Amino acid sequence: MAVRDELGRAKSRSTKFRVQNTSSMGWRSTSKHWWLWMQVVVVLVVLASEFGVHGQDLGTWEILLANAGIASMHAAVTNYGTVVLLDRTNIGASQIALPNGTCRDSNDLVLPHDCTAHSVLFDPSTNTVRPLTILSDTWCSSGQFMPDGTLMQTGGDFEGIRKVRTFVPCPATGNCDWVESTTQQLQQPRWYATNQLLPDGRQIIIGGRAVFNIEYIPPSANGPLYFDFLNATNDGQNDNLYPFVHLLPDGNLYIFANRDSIVYNYVTNTVVKTFPRIPGEPRNYPSAGSSVMLPLLASNQFSVVEVLICGGAQYGAFLEPWTRKPCSITCERIVVTDPNPIWVEEQMPIRRCMGDMILLPNTDVLIINGASIGSQGWGFADDPVLNPVRYMPYGSPDARFTTLTPSTIPRMYHSTANLLPDGRVMCAGSNSHQFYTFTGDYPTELRIDAFSPPYLSASVAPIKPTISVYPLQVTYGTPFTVTVSTPSALTTVIELNLMSAPFNTHSYAQGQRLVNLNVGGSVQVAAASVYQITATAPPTPQIAPPGYYMMFAVNQRVPSVAVWIRVTS
Ligand SMILES: *[C@@H]1O[C@H](CO)[C@@H](O)[C@H](O)[C@H]1NC(C)=O
Ligand SMILES: *[C@@H]1O[C@H](CO)[C@@H](O)[C@H](O)[C@H]1NC(C)=O
Repeated sequence: MAVRDELGRAKSRSTKFRVQNTSSMGWRSTSKHWWLWMQVVVVLVVLASEFGVHGQDLGTWEILLANAGIASMHAAVTNYGTVVLLDRTNIGASQIALPNGTCRDSNDLVLPHDCTAHSVLFDPSTNTVRPLTILSDTWCSSGQFMPDGTLMQTGGDFEGIRKVRTFVPCPATGNCDWVESTTQQLQQPRWYATNQLLPDGRQIIIGGRAVFNIEYIPPSANGPLYFDFLNATNDGQNDNLYPFVHLLPDGNLYIFANRDSIVYNYVTNTVVKTFPRIPGEPRNYPSAGSSVMLPLLASNQFSVVEVLICGGAQYGAFLEPWTRKPCSITCERIVVTDPNPIWVEEQMPIRRCMGDMILLPNTDVLIINGASIGSQGWGFADDPVLNPVRYMPYGSPDARFTTLTPSTIPRMYHSTANLLPDGRVMCAGSNSHQFYTFTGDYPTELRIDAFSPPYLSASVAPIKPTISVYPLQVTYGTPFTVTVSTPSALTTVIELNLMSAPFNTHSYAQGQRLVNLNVGGSVQVAAASVYQITATAPPTPQIAPPGYYMMFAVNQRVPSVAVWIRVTS
């Protein structure tokens, strides 16, 4: 009942917003079917009171900070658990001053003398932000962590379009800040590119608007390298931007742009596999779908790779936004490693574009944020989708989606979502306007909030594991032990999952992956429920490129708080 109340309240607050409730499940209460409708209501009320346990089991929302100072467009979680948020310059004054009273004098289009910050560091342990110093335009840039935990951030607009910026994380109380290189720059001007960390520790940077090529950081002597796939997938709306890139366990890259995808061997610069065209809408920027590589599983020795792509905008939604085209309702899933792969279609409970797809530590996928009409672009979307949806990849096909508790904050264009080490998903930003605009239907959003998925509910506390002893660093393929305790005795083997911290921008989390570890079993080491678990580090840097990962212990689909662990050769 509490669930229905919560939905009802959210709906009455803002009837414009898309809140999934019982009346939008496809049933029509025509007089002919009133009796059927009544039966459905009775069943749903019973189900809600049975399983919608006091609003908890469908997740909860909390506002973390009323004003972050900037509207987050790009976000990444560092290995100190802090979150780097970025907006852009050429947007006017933000609502937070640059550190130490500094100002920036430049050719900024809006504010040549700007004393405000366009990046902040959020600390989830205190729910506070600290301004960071970034002086060039990061609009539509890209990024990725390097193996030593440094956030590398590239490109943007105007004077930032060839910039290489680094942020070396520090403890939350520290003073670490951005460094914008004055000596190194990109080989090509880039915005809307995708970065991916490679097994050898380099980053590959793929594409961008009107740049159908690839380059590396550190740069390769023969770059940039022309990449015909990007030319071939370009169309009248440039639907090949922010390509979806997944590093495969064989070391090749799965790359998806517009509606096509390939496996690319970057070592030999050859396309080694071509997939059938995806059904339905274009899925990349500006058509606003999202993608994850499903968890790499120890149970199949990381030999099966599946890619999931959900949502998108109809072709033309970007060129003719006044047509208000409904967003995609489909997810498409493909087994990349199959000899003859095909797309398998599933229907989401709610249409969505600009959704963020976030891997959860228990191997579920959360689809969060976005809209159900339009596409990416300033003012091009409407009907924000407030309900996150959970997709359980290994559930029975007719029961994989669950519609979860709605937020109260629309998060559409230029918003972010990131998994925090405690298992919450932090959401920030949303700016449907070119500049900071606090009027109209969708004012620029400065609030930060977080969604606690059902696995954080108090009802699962008796089985929630806690990691107490663990190594700070592990070497490929070598065994290590972890001590885990649970409030009640274990009934199944605890799993260990490593999760990268991706760079999230424009509805796609660059470099996101979950690597499930081989676990040898648990040995009880104390009278209480304390267990020592023997695990094997990921076998190769192709399966888990070197760097910092959040390691979660998972007991019956309930994750611990993560610890940071460095994977290295
Ligand atoms: C601001 O001042 C602190 C303390 O003196 C210093 O550590 C930090 O580097 C300064 N930051 C900038 C951006 O000048
Ligand atoms: C890009 O594709 C177009 C056709 O769509 C073709 O005419 C052109 O030659 C291609 N560019 C390059 C550099 O191959």
